[in-house]
Amino acid sequence: MLNLSNEKDSRLSAEDFGANFIWGVSTAAYQIEGAHNIHDKGKSIWDVFSSKKGNIYQNQNGTVACDFYYRYKEDILLMKSMGIKNFRFSLSWSRLLPSGVGKPSKEGIQYYNDIIDFCLECGITPWITLYHWDLPQVLEDQGGWVNRKILEWFKEYAVLCAQSFGDRVKNWMVLNEPMVFTGAGYFLGVHAPGKKGLKHFLPSVHHAVLCQAIGGRVLREMVSKANIGTTFSCSQITPNSQKKKDISAAKRADTMLNRLFIEPSLGMGYPLGDIPVLKKIKELAEPEDEQNSIFEFDFIGVQNYTREIVKHSFWVPYLKAKIVKATKRNVKITLMDWEVYPPSLYNMIAQFSAYPKVKKVIVTENGAAFNDAVVDSKIKDVERIAYLEDYLKEVKRAKENGLKVEGYFVWTFTDNFEWAEGYYPKFGLVHVDFKTQKRKIKDSGFWYSRFITSS
Ligand code: GAL
Repeated sequence: MLNLSNEKDSRLSAEDFGANFIWGVSTAAYQIEGAHNIHDKGKSIWDVFSSKKGNIYQNQNGTVACDFYYRYKEDILLMKSMGIKNFRFSLSWSRLLPSGVGKPSKEGIQYYNDIIDFCLECGITPWITLYHWDLPQVLEDQGGWVNRKILEWFKEYAVLCAQSFGDRVKNWMVLNEPMVFTGAGYFLGVHAPGKKGLKHFLPSVHHAVLCQAIGGRVLREMVSKANIGTTFSCSQITPNSQKKKDISAAKRADTMLNRLFIEPSLGMGYPLGDIPVLKKIKELAEPEDEQNSIFEFDFIGVQNYTREIVKHSFWVPYLKAKIVKATKRNVKITLMDWEVYPPSLYNMIAQFSAYPKVKKVIVTENGAAFNDAVVDSKIKDVERIAYLEDYLKEVKRAKENGLKVEGYFVWTFTDNFEWAEGYYPKFGLVHVDFKTQKRKIKDSGFWYSRFITSS
């Protein structure tokens, strides 16, 4: 008896989150669209980066990806059939502005108009990310995020998007995970454009911080009744031990991974105290920059998958901190080698909600890649269902404890191109056979569908 009632108590229902809670799925242009050179589309840094040998798992690329460009109706209808009411997708800058700036592409604009209109026809609310990592290559050829001119380029792009789609789209996110595209793309060189070192990293950080606010201001000015956010990657950081050195290493990692981009936007300036090398950002800044980095976002998109255990390391330059790999810790991991650790989501919602100026938090990405078992042609992805349920319990706990969380988007709708890892890690609620492009709802998709439609 006791067991049964416990089970019932812990069962999750969408009702627990309140009638206004936003449920959706998230995607990104380069990961799903394909049609990389249709009409006048320009190349993006991901087109170029993934065409070079050795950059991507098995030298794969997003040339076709999920063929969403041609199959968007099928996918949106599938979403509709699953009761998904909110669809987050990003716009491809080089599809809209083939030369990065200047003459817009008629076909590019038409394409996104068609998607938006079809979503609305299906009763699905579009949530647009302006920038999910696919910078036009022509702009990268002039330095990309390292060149201060990106402030003008980005503004022009944001104006075009607001002008073209702002009459029907009210929910916007300016950037997707600036820490990842600057860190992986301009410091470690493992993502496009494959640049390395501080001389690329620090200016790209500073310019991304400014563009975050520039995009916000453009949208505020041009889109009536806009709900404007921006998104951050974040992970709970736990010190490897209670030794002082590990505790301060964890603090530095937290500053770098979780605080660097949000704090300037809240008017707190850069969190420079813990990591001396960050002070060099100041040398790049013009007098008005601190003020111009501030923007009052309506919501902050928290994107969490895992936590990191961090210890002191003399050998890691600048940060002097090292992540203890989950693969070495004897914990449950996903195909990305990320630890499954649901409280991390609670703790990150708490950390971001704790800033008095953050009005609300929406979990704009959470999900997991597993080896999905196929049994009798059904996709029995029990691990993903367990993952989603356990992380959602943490969102529920956050809500019950009065934290300002008001939505949740699963990463992601269909299996897709997972950046440097290619098509190997599958995060989708819907399976894609990449040979035939056939879609099949996984058990987790049925589960999510039942869950969000149950209230
Ligand atoms: C995020 C990113 C997504 C997706 C996801 C899973 O960092 O925004 O595009 O790749 O991770 O790895």
